[in-house]
Amino acid sequence: MLLQALLYIEGEHEMRRVVVTGLGAITPLAAGIKTTWKRLLESSSGLSSTTTRGPAFETLPSKVAGLVPLGKREDCAWQAKDWLPAKEERQMALFAQYAVAAADEALNDAGWHPTSQADLEATGVTIGSGIGNLDEAYNTSVAFHEGGYRKVSPLFVPKLLINLAAGHVSIRHGFKGPNHAATTACTTGLHAIGDASRLIAFGDADVMVAGGAESCIHPLAIAGFARARSLAVDWNDEPAAASRPFDSQRAGFVIGEGAGVVVLEELEHAKARKANIYAEVKGYGLSSDAYHMTAPEENGEGAFLAMRAALKHASLKPEAIDYVNAHATSTILGDAAENRAIKRLLLGPDGRQSASEVNINSTKGAVGHLLGAAGAVEAIFTMLTIHNNVLPPTLNLVRPGDPPEEFDCNYVPNAAQQHTVNAALTNSFGFGGTNASLCLAKYR
Ligand SMILES: *[C@@H]1O[C@H](CO)[C@@H](O)[C@H](O)[C@H]1NC(C)=O
Ligand SMILES: *[C@@H]1O[C@H](CO)[C@@H](O)[C@H](O)[C@H]1NC(C)=O
Ligand SMILES: *[C@@H]1O[C@H](CO)[C@@H](O)[C@H](O)[C@H]1NC(C)=O
Repeated sequence: MLLQALLYIEGEHEMRRVVVTGLGAITPLAAGIKTTWKRLLESSSGLSSTTTRGPAFETLPSKVAGLVPLGKREDCAWQAKDWLPAKEERQMALFAQYAVAAADEALNDAGWHPTSQADLEATGVTIGSGIGNLDEAYNTSVAFHEGGYRKVSPLFVPKLLINLAAGHVSIRHGFKGPNHAATTACTTGLHAIGDASRLIAFGDADVMVAGGAESCIHPLAIAGFARARSLAVDWNDEPAAASRPFDSQRAGFVIGEGAGVVVLEELEHAKARKANIYAEVKGYGLSSDAYHMTAPEENGEGAFLAMRAALKHASLKPEAIDYVNAHATSTILGDAAENRAIKRLLLGPDGRQSASEVNINSTKGAVGHLLGAAGAVEAIFTMLTIHNNVLPPTLNLVRPGDPPEEFDCNYVPNAAQQHTVNAALTNSFGFGGTNASLCLAKYR
C-alpha cells in the first residue's frame, strides 16, 4: 500500500520544463542563423547547380543541391579556416565541422560558457547525422583497393564515426554531461533535439547542445537517391525552382547540406541566469509507419500518430496550433500523406473549423532537404517563427496539388506573412518509416 502510494507520488512528480536559449546554423542560405533567417524571410533560394563542383556531378540525373555558400565568414559564407584551427579541420569530417561551427554560434547566442566542474558536468551534447562522412569512406575505399593497407589514414575511423560531431563539441568546450548521437535518417535532427529535451526533463542534464549535421553532397549519394527515385530531376537548368513543396509540379527532393544546433536548458536554470528564451519545448511525439522502407502510408498514419503524441505531451488541443513546419520534401507521395495527416489532426471539433485556418510551411523550398540536419534546422525556423510572429514562405508554390482539392490549407505561398504564433509543430520523417513531431510554444 505504502509502496503504491510512493509510486503514485513519483508518477505525479512534475517534469522539469525545457526552453530554448541559443540557436546556431550553417545552411545553404548562409553560414550563421541570423543571415539564414533574413534570407528565408526575403524568399531567397539557397539552391544551385552541382556542376560547379566537378565533372562527376555532370553525369547524374539530378544536378541541383542546397550547397553551403563558400567564402569568408564575414560574408556569412563558409571556409573552414575561419571557424576552426587547421589541426581540428584536418581531424574532422565536414559534417562535424558544420556541427562545431553551429554549436559555437548557439553557445555564444545563449551566453553559456561554463567553467566550473558542476556546470560542465551538467552540460551535455546530442548531435547526429543521417549519412556521415561518405566522402572519406569513398576515397579510402578507392585508395585501399588500389594501394592497400599503407593508404589508409590513421584518422579514417575517427573521421567516419557519426557520434564524433558530438564528441568534438564536448572536447572543445569541456562538457562532461551526456554525449549522444541519433542516426535516424531524415528524422535525426529532430530526434536529437527531442531526446535531449527528455534528458533535461528527467534530470540527466541542465543544459544540452542538440542538433543534426549533414554534408554528403557527393556524386555517390546523389546517384543513390536518384536510383531510389527520390530526387527532383526536371529543374537542372533552374535550380531555384527545383524544390516545390505542396506544388502540383513537385517531383522529388533536392539534397542539401549544413547543420542546425540549439542550446536547450531547464527553465529555472535559464531564468536564474536571465537567459533570452526563444520558445519552450512543450511536447515530443515519436512513431513508426511500420509500412515500407522509403514510401509513406497513403493516409499519413505515422505522421498523424507522432503529431498526436506531441500534442498529448504538450496538453494542447489541436485548435491551439497556429503553425506547422512540415517535413514536406517536395515528393509526390510524401507531401500528400503529410498534408492528409495534418488536416486529420488539426481540423474538427477540437481543432480548426476550416482548412484555410491551418498554416503550413515547408522551408525546404528555400534550402532543399538537409537529411540528418533538416529536423534541427527546421526546428530552429519554427522557434524563430514563434519568437518573431512571422511565418516564413514556401517557395515555388504556384498551384497547390496534386490532387488540388486536398491542398486547401494556407501554405504561405512565396512570401512571408505576419501571424501571431503561440504554439507550433515541426515534423520530421525518415527512411525506414520513422516519424517525429516536436511541439514548441511561446514561454509564459
Ligand atoms: C576525396 O577525393 C577527392 C578527389 O581526389 C578530393 O577532392 C576530396 O577532397 C577527397 N575527400 C576527402 C575527404 O579526402
Ligand atoms: C514516416 O516516416 C517514413 C520514413 O521515411 C516516411 O516514409 C513516411 O512518409 C512518414 N510518414 C508520413 C505520413 O509522412
Ligand atoms: C509559410 O506560411 C505562411 C503563413 O501561412 C505563408 O505566408 C508563407 O507564404 C508560407 N511559406 C511558404 C514558403 O509556403
